[in-house]
Amino acid sequence: MNLSISLGKNNVGAYIKDINLKSLDQNLATEIKKILNQFGVIFIKEQNLDPETYQNFAKTIGQPVVYPRLKGLDEKFPFINVIERKPDDKNLSFGSSWLHQDTSYLAYNRPRYTMLMGKEIPTGQGNTIFSSGFNAYDKLPDDIKEKIRDATGVFSSAGPIAVTRLEREKEMGIKSSESMEAEHPIVITVDGKKTLYVSPGHLMKIRNVKEDEAEYLKDYLVNHVNKEEFIFSYEWTKGDICLWDNLSILHMASEIKNCRRVMHRITIK
Ligand SMILES: [Fe+2]
Repeated sequence: MNLSISLGKNNVGAYIKDINLKSLDQNLATEIKKILNQFGVIFIKEQNLDPETYQNFAKTIGQPVVYPRLKGLDEKFPFINVIERKPDDKNLSFGSSWLHQDTSYLAYNRPRYTMLMGKEIPTGQGNTIFSSGFNAYDKLPDDIKEKIRDATGVFSSAGPIAVTRLEREKEMGIKSSESMEAEHPIVITVDGKKTLYVSPGHLMKIRNVKEDEAEYLKDYLVNHVNKEEFIFSYEWTKGDICLWDNLSILHMASEIKNCRRVMHRITIK
């Protein structure tokens, strides 16, 4: 089977066109996962799946996991988290302000994929911003590639993005959990290609580089993945599905003001 695809802006991810996930079979699922791993993020427009079909689709990609900080839709669909933004919410949106790779602060069993489906979408705001680690690595100068060949990053849930999280938890009345920290290589290979795993929202320091260059390299890489040339700002329509591989794609939410938005999220191992 050859699915029809077109690339996102700046070659970030791929749209998969002319498919209907309501009639999903094993061949189609295998093909979708191949494209996902190759491009890092896939965009499938206007699917409007019911919770059962949506959750079943997630299961063809991997093992859905219960995400501790977000509540499930109901007992029947524990893997579907409802991300709701209300018109009078004043704080920053969940996951905004800092590009990041979800749960990079977990040492073991990091969930690999994140999927969102748009349930209620305001017009003109609330884009999701993606940056491709594949493209960012490719465009690094050779001397930087050499310097970071064996580098690792220390990632913390109390990193720069935590301000947003803490504010949101306060608003929802959740008691903040203790911070988690993990160390991972920052140059990794996914689907045969090198990619950058630097999750700026969680990155605390770079190790296994010359000590006097660690801070400079950290700033350099954070600035690098934020460059316009690696960014695709995805504009939602209702029913769209975005599914990304946190190993190769960085993302962040953008500001939403004075309107309601509802997304269904599934985290997948
Ligand atoms: Fe996120």
